[in-house]
Amino acid sequence: MALGEFLQQLDDLAGDADTAFSTATDVGQLEAARVEFLGAKSGRLKATQKQLGSVDKTDKPAAGKRFNEIKQRVDGAFKAAQERIASVHVASEATGKFFDTSLPGKRSGLGHLHPITQTIEELKDIMGRLGFSVADGPEIEDERHNFEALNIPLAHPARDPLENFYLATAKKTSPDVLLLRSQTSTVQIRVMEKTPPPIRIISLGRVYRPDTADATHYPMFHQMEGLWVDKKVTMADLKTVLRIFATSYLGRDVHVRFRPSFFPFTEPSVEADMSWGDKWIEFGGAGMIDPNVLSAVGYNPDEVSGFAFGLGIERLCMRRHGITDIREFYRNDVRFLHQF
Ligand code: PHE
Repeated sequence: MALGEFLQQLDDLAGDADTAFSTATDVGQLEAARVEFLGAKSGRLKATQKQLGSVDKTDKPAAGKRFNEIKQRVDGAFKAAQERIASVHVASEATGKFFDTSLPGKRSGLGHLHPITQTIEELKDIMGRLGFSVADGPEIEDERHNFEALNIPLAHPARDPLENFYLATAKKTSPDVLLLRSQTSTVQIRVMEKTPPPIRIISLGRVYRPDTADATHYPMFHQMEGLWVDKKVTMADLKTVLRIFATSYLGRDVHVRFRPSFFPFTEPSVEADMSWGDKWIEFGGAGMIDPNVLSAVGYNPDEVSGFAFGLGIERLCMRRHGITDIREFYRNDVRFLHQF
């Protein structure tokens, strides 16, 4: 074989080997390239070595020297590829990015809204269809909105420190005494202060009372406040709205019952019960807005009237789903939560 032809063959082989080793990305491809170029029996380097015997005697030293250079180059390309693939493997395992595509899949749990959040969304939906828009208010309140404007005077037992979460640090940051709101009725005041009548809003949110937690009490719970102020709003409107609400949320066979009660900010006041099956359950308070409250926000009680109600959201959700312990909502046990 002529020297030129032999050298050309070596060059081709070296080029092919470079490509094969530098593009190998896993152990399988690396091994295939090794067998093709460096295989002891039928590798291309071995085959070329055999042809060295047929090169002219005078050209042999040059051919042999070149062969050795190429062999070293191919060996080097193999080792480099081997190191590269090993290090990628180790690095990806260390960063957790490497994964074995043949492993069985792991289902990732998809979260969903908390049952109380779901209830809130549904209540907004029902009340929205009755023309109530949603208003919001702060959870940290001053005494004017939680008590005074709601006709609850300083001496009233509802303002007892044992019945409320007063904030001890409040005086430093605010001249007002602050507390965690004990009722969403605060939002009635906030809305009426800013907006002239007519008003038709609901407000859903957290309220706080220092109650010991048991199956029906929790120091934080949610209320839905409703407020409708206009000319000639009556108690019949209140009962109609509550009845439509109750049948929409709990079912057509639900009845609403009023029992006489007292709240400083409504006159007359009632407890609103709902029946579903054979039992009456109290869901909250309601009544016609006291003229003192209308005056406190600058409305004229001779021109407008209104009703307000405040319902316990946990109670509604518990009744709907047959939940018997309010604490379940706040244990964060997914075995409970995932059922909704
Ligand atoms: N705010 C009262 C409570 O928390 C409920 C209520 C709201 C009563 C509106 C009358 C009118 O118990």
